[in-house]
Amino acid sequence: MPHLSRRDLLSSGLALSASSLLARSAWGRAAAALSNTPSALPALAPREQLLFDFGWKFQFGHGTDPARDLGFGNGQGDFAKTGDFAFSKSGFDDSKWRALNLPHDWAVELPFVHDDVQMSHGYKPVGRRYPETSVGWYRREFEIPASDLGRRIAVEFNGAFRDVLIFVNGCFIGRNDHGYAPFSLDLTDFLKYGGKNYIVARVDASFGDGWFYEGAGIYRHVWLTKSDALHLGHLESYVRTEVGSHSAQLKLATVVENQGKQAESAKVTWKIQDAAGKTVATAESAAQTIEADGSAKFAATAKLDAPLLWSVDEPNLYSAIVTVETGGKARDAERVNFGVRTAVFDADKGFFLNGKPLKIQGTCNHHDHAGVGAALPDRLQAFRLDVLRAMGCNAVRTSHNMPTPEWVESCDRAGIMMMCEARQMSSSSEGLAQLEAMIKRYRNSPSIILWSVGNEEWQLQDSMAEQGAHIAETLVRRCHELDPTRVVSAAVNGDNEKGVSDAFDIIGFNYGLNRPDNFHKEHPKRPIYGSETASAVSTRGVYSTDPLRNTVSAYDVNNPGWGEQAEEWWKFYATRDWEAGGFAWTGFDYRGEPTPYGWPSINSQFGIIDMCGFPKDTFYYYKAWWGTEPVLHLFPHWNFEGKEGETIPVWVHSNLDEVELFVNGKSQGSQKVSRLGHVEWKVKYEPGVIEARGSKDGKVALTEKRETTGLAAAIRLTVDRAEIDADGEDVAILTVEVLDKEGRPVPTASNLISFKVSGAGALIGVGNGDPNCQESDKDPKRSLFNGLAQVIVQSTREPGEIHIEAVKEGWDGPELTPAKLVVVTKKVQLRPSVG
Ligand code: GAL
Repeated sequence: MPHLSRRDLLSSGLALSASSLLARSAWGRAAAALSNTPSALPALAPREQLLFDFGWKFQFGHGTDPARDLGFGNGQGDFAKTGDFAFSKSGFDDSKWRALNLPHDWAVELPFVHDDVQMSHGYKPVGRRYPETSVGWYRREFEIPASDLGRRIAVEFNGAFRDVLIFVNGCFIGRNDHGYAPFSLDLTDFLKYGGKNYIVARVDASFGDGWFYEGAGIYRHVWLTKSDALHLGHLESYVRTEVGSHSAQLKLATVVENQGKQAESAKVTWKIQDAAGKTVATAESAAQTIEADGSAKFAATAKLDAPLLWSVDEPNLYSAIVTVETGGKARDAERVNFGVRTAVFDADKGFFLNGKPLKIQGTCNHHDHAGVGAALPDRLQAFRLDVLRAMGCNAVRTSHNMPTPEWVESCDRAGIMMMCEARQMSSSSEGLAQLEAMIKRYRNSPSIILWSVGNEEWQLQDSMAEQGAHIAETLVRRCHELDPTRVVSAAVNGDNEKGVSDAFDIIGFNYGLNRPDNFHKEHPKRPIYGSETASAVSTRGVYSTDPLRNTVSAYDVNNPGWGEQAEEWWKFYATRDWEAGGFAWTGFDYRGEPTPYGWPSINSQFGIIDMCGFPKDTFYYYKAWWGTEPVLHLFPHWNFEGKEGETIPVWVHSNLDEVELFVNGKSQGSQKVSRLGHVEWKVKYEPGVIEARGSKDGKVALTEKRETTGLAAAIRLTVDRAEIDADGEDVAILTVEVLDKEGRPVPTASNLISFKVSGAGALIGVGNGDPNCQESDKDPKRSLFNGLAQVIVQSTREPGEIHIEAVKEGWDGPELTPAKLVVVTKKVQLRPSVG
C-alpha cells in the first residue's frame, strides 16, 4: 500500500481489528542472563585509544539566528580564514554552559509538543521549525602532551545526530551529515603539543534521517586515538574464514599507511588468540616499502586447527592481533575480534548456521530506550539483548540504520545473529560512503549474517524501478567487494518482481503473507526470508482496546491492515521449510510512530516488549515457540473490581501438551495446546484466584496463578545487578512496583513514586512503558504503569554505594511504605580516557 495512505490509516486507528476485550494486566520479567556487558576492546600499544566522553560543556545554539548561535554565520565570513573560530580557542567563556558526559541525547530532555508534524519522531520540538532546540554546541578543553609530537591523532565519533561541524583550536576540521555513520577526523596538524587544546562540535538536528525517533546530539561514544605516523589504516583490517572439515583457513588482510616523512620498510604480523587469550595461530607478511604519504595492502593466511565455531548456542570468539613492524619494532597494532562459522541461505531449505538448519527467530529494533532516548550506556544495550534472548529471539535487524559498535559486539558475545542495515538506499557518493563505513566497521563480526542496503524504497521498487535496479546493483557490487563472505538483501514491501530486487542475493518480504508462496513458485532458486513482519500492536497490561485512552488490548488480536498478529506470521514462516525465518516488527516499543493513535501517544505500540524492557503478554507466545524451555504464561491479571459477572477471556501461552484452567478452584476445562497456537477460555469474573495447570506427557509440569490483590501498601525496588562497575558508565536497572498487604504486586497500580539517589551514582532516566505517558524522562519521579516503572542509575568513577530511596509522591491515595535499595559500585580498571 502506498506510504501515506497506510500511515493515514494508522493514525486513524481504523486498520485495527475491533476488540472490546476487557482491560487486565499481567507481566512477567525476562529471565535475563546478565553476563553480557560489553567492554570496548582495549587499544594495543603503541596505539592509544582514549575515551573522550567525560567532561564536556553543552549549550543550545540556534537554527536561524546567528546572534543566538555563538555568532556563527553572522555575515558570510565564517570560513574565510583558517584559525578564526574564536569559540574553539582559549579565552572563550563557556563557564555558563552545562557540564555533561557523553553519550548525550538532548531530544529526550525536551518537553513533548502537540504538533502532528512531529508525530513520527515522538512529538519532540526538533526540526527546522524549532530552531531554539535543534542546534547544540559541545565544547571541551583537553591537553596533549609534548611527547605526542610526531604521532597521528584523530577524533572518532561513533555517531552523532546530525550535521556535525568540528572545530579545533580555532580551525574548522571537517563535517559529517549522516546521523548514524561513524566518522573520524585527523587533528594532528591542528594541535598544540604540550598545552591546552579546544574542540567544539556544532550538532544540528534540524534535518532527520528517518520517520521514527532518532534523538539529537552526540549520542554515541567519542574516542581520541593516537598512533604512530606509520599505522594501520582505519577499519582496514579484516579476517575472512573458510571452514573446512577439521580446520579453518583464515584470510588476513590490512592496509598500512605511512604519514611519516620517509619511506619505510614494514611488515605485518598476525597473532590469532582464542577466547582465553592463548595464541592458536600466527601469520606474517613479506616486508614492503611504503613511500612517505603512501599506503600498502598486506595479506597473509593462517590455519586454525579444530576451531570452536561461533553459533547461537556457543558464541565462540577469536581475535587477531594485527601488528605493523619495522626493524623488529611494533609501530602500530590493533585487535580484531572474529568468529568462525558458516551462514548459508538455501532456496529450498531455509537458513543453515554451520551446516545445521536454523530458523531465524528475529526482531527488528530501533535504538532508543526509556529514560535515556538514543543515548544508551553500553550496559543498557546488552540488557536489551538479554531480554530479547530470554524470549528465544536469535536474531536482530538494526532497522533502519547502522547500529552502535556496542550493540554488534554484544550480539557477537551473546550469540545473536544480525541483519545489519544501512540507512540510505542510494549509490550516490554519500550513500556509498555510508555503506562502506558500515561494512568496514562490522565485517569481522560473526553475528552479522546478512547486509541490508535499505528498507521499503517504494519509488525504487515501482515508479523508479529502472533506476532502482541500477542503484541496487551498484550497492550489492560494493558490498561484495568489501565483504565477499556475506549475502546482501533489503527489506522490500512489495512483490519483489521489479526494481531493486533482482540484484539481491536473498529476497526479503516486509509483511504481505500472500506474496512469498507465489514468489517461491515463480523463482524457486531464490532464498526467501521475512525482512519485516507482524507490526502487531498491544499495550502492556491492558486488556481492552480503548480509543479514548489510546490503548490496545494485550491479547494477540490487534494488527494494522498490512501487518499480522504474532501467531499468524509465525505459523506462516515456521511451517515452510524454504522460509529462512523472519524479523518481527518490533522487539521493543520505541518513541515515535504511535500507531494506531496519535497525540497524546508518544511511542509506538508495536513492541513485544515495552520501552523499559518489561515484556508484554505476547513475549510468552514467542518464548513458547522460539525457546527451548517449557512455558506456561497465564493472563490477564485478576483485578477487575466492578466487572463481577462479566465475561473475561483468559489466555495461556504454552508449549506444553494440555492446560487446565481453574477459577477459585473450579475447573473450567482442559484444552490441548495446538502447535504454534495458544489456548483460551471465556470465564465470568469473580474476585479470587485463577490458576493454569499445564501438563506434559500426562503429568502436571508447570502451574501459574493470578490473584485478585488488595490495595497498594508498600513500594518494592528490585535491581538487575546489585553490584556494578565504578567506571562512570555502568548502570543498574531498577524495577519499581507496589505490593499489597500480603506482599503481592498490584498489577493495575499507577501510583506516582519519587526517587532520591545519593552516593556513588546518579539517576539518568526513568520510564514506565506507558505509550501515553508524557512525564519527564529525567525528573526523579514516575507513575507506575500497570504496576511497573523503571529507574536507571549510573555509577560515578569513585567506588562506593549508590543509595536509592523510593517514596510516594503527592497527597492522594493511601500511604505507601517507602523502599530503599543499595547498589554497590566496585573498583575496576577504568577505560583509558582523555583527562
Ligand atoms: C514498516 C516500516 C517500519 C515501520 C513499520 C510500522 O513499513 O518499515 O519502519 O514504520 O512499517 O508498521
